[in-house]
Amino acid sequence: MSGFFNSCQNQMKYNEEDESQKGINKATKGGIVYGEYLQLDKVLNAQVLQSQQKGDKIHDEHLFIVTHQAYELWFKQILWELDSVRDLFIKKHVRDERNMLKVVSRIHRITMIFKLLVEQFAVLETMTALDFFDFREYLSPASGFQSLQFRLLEAKIGVADHLRVPYNRRHYRDNFHGQESETLLSSEQEPTLLQLVEKWLERTPGLENDGFNFWGKLQANIEEGLKMEKHKLEKMEDSEVKEDLLAELNKQTEIFTALFDPKRHEHLLSKGELRLSYKALQGALMINFYREEPRFQVPFQLLTALMEIDTLMTKWRYNHVCMVHRMIGSKAGTGGSSGYHYLRSTVSDRYKVFVDLFNLTKFLVPRSWVPKLNPSIHKLLWSECCFLKYFTLTLSLFQCHYTFRM
Ligand code: HEM
Repeated sequence: MSGFFNSCQNQMKYNEEDESQKGINKATKGGIVYGEYLQLDKVLNAQVLQSQQKGDKIHDEHLFIVTHQAYELWFKQILWELDSVRDLFIKKHVRDERNMLKVVSRIHRITMIFKLLVEQFAVLETMTALDFFDFREYLSPASGFQSLQFRLLEAKIGVADHLRVPYNRRHYRDNFHGQESETLLSSEQEPTLLQLVEKWLERTPGLENDGFNFWGKLQANIEEGLKMEKHKLEKMEDSEVKEDLLAELNKQTEIFTALFDPKRHEHLLSKGELRLSYKALQGALMINFYREEPRFQVPFQLLTALMEIDTLMTKWRYNHVCMVHRMIGSKAGTGGSSGYHYLRSTVSDRYKVFVDLFNLTKFLVPRSWVPKLNPSIHKLLWSECCFLKYFTLTLSLFQCHYTFRM
């Protein structure tokens, strides 16, 4: 007994000296507390099991609801970031290049959320198809297809209306009514992230015909480079290897002839095969070629993050459809589509907004063909060198932080 008493006394003594116990219980002094601040009364009381309502409580329906709600909350955060980025572009704040850090770090945040969302299906997949079958009938005709936030997200990034897979031969918006339909319609009329980035790329310093004239110089260098290559190959002895190399060179020549043909670009744009204007494509290529120049480092990070969004959305669609296949096979969806078959057709480049950025690699050339910077453009690309060093440093710290946590 006395041993127990001594150990309690030691414990008390230990607590008095313990740094971790030195604090003031502020919550007892009034003001907002955790549950109120987060409105948990609303959030944690929003899990109404339809199975329970119908007198047949099914355990896994709780997981199903919480998972969907978690997705919707993250969609909300993505829209919050996306709107703020679009606003920076719309209000032309990006003309002050210091704001580009905000743009890039928010887009980077979106990609981090998407990574989480891609992985999150694994939790729902702990539910078996049979467990799902037990309550599926209770949620019909509700379906993720009716997720307003998901559609807003697609529309605001720039998924093209005419490239969408129809839903039972109808426009996807036909499934929305009243206020939701109006919200969707008005969001489709706002400038998309794609359009805003396009306008920004068109202003890339160095594109001016009467200035550095990147495009004119690049065309001249490539034509000269291809001519020299051809000359070199023609001097080779006749062989299969020579034929193959010449055929490869012809292919390359065709690709570049097309690249420098603005009319062809317009044609592909009108067919929906390209998404960026001719000028914006030039800007994107210029940023890729000179990405090591201080002024282009942050823009390059932005282009990379935009491609990451596309990649992650494709992975989201892919993981979702794999899960759907496992849960309902090829049965129709609760929302009324063909289910797996419909969803599978959406895992496609039609939904990739920044697809042109992926295809830029087609136009990569040996470094020696890239136009050399002259002193005036060099000065322009270095002019904001100091704060850009700060940008890059901050960004790498930011990325390190996540790398260490993963
Ligand atoms: C057991 C789990 C799930 C099943 C069986 C399922 C099934 C389906 C099906 C069949 C569709 C096609 C529309 C229809 O006919 O209903 C669909 C669409 C959709 N679902 Fe799910 N889903 C599941 C989980 C989720 C989760 C967790 C989310 C997260 C928000 C989600 C979001 C969506 C979205 C956004 C669409 C529209 C996709 C598009 O049209 O491109 N689903 N789902």
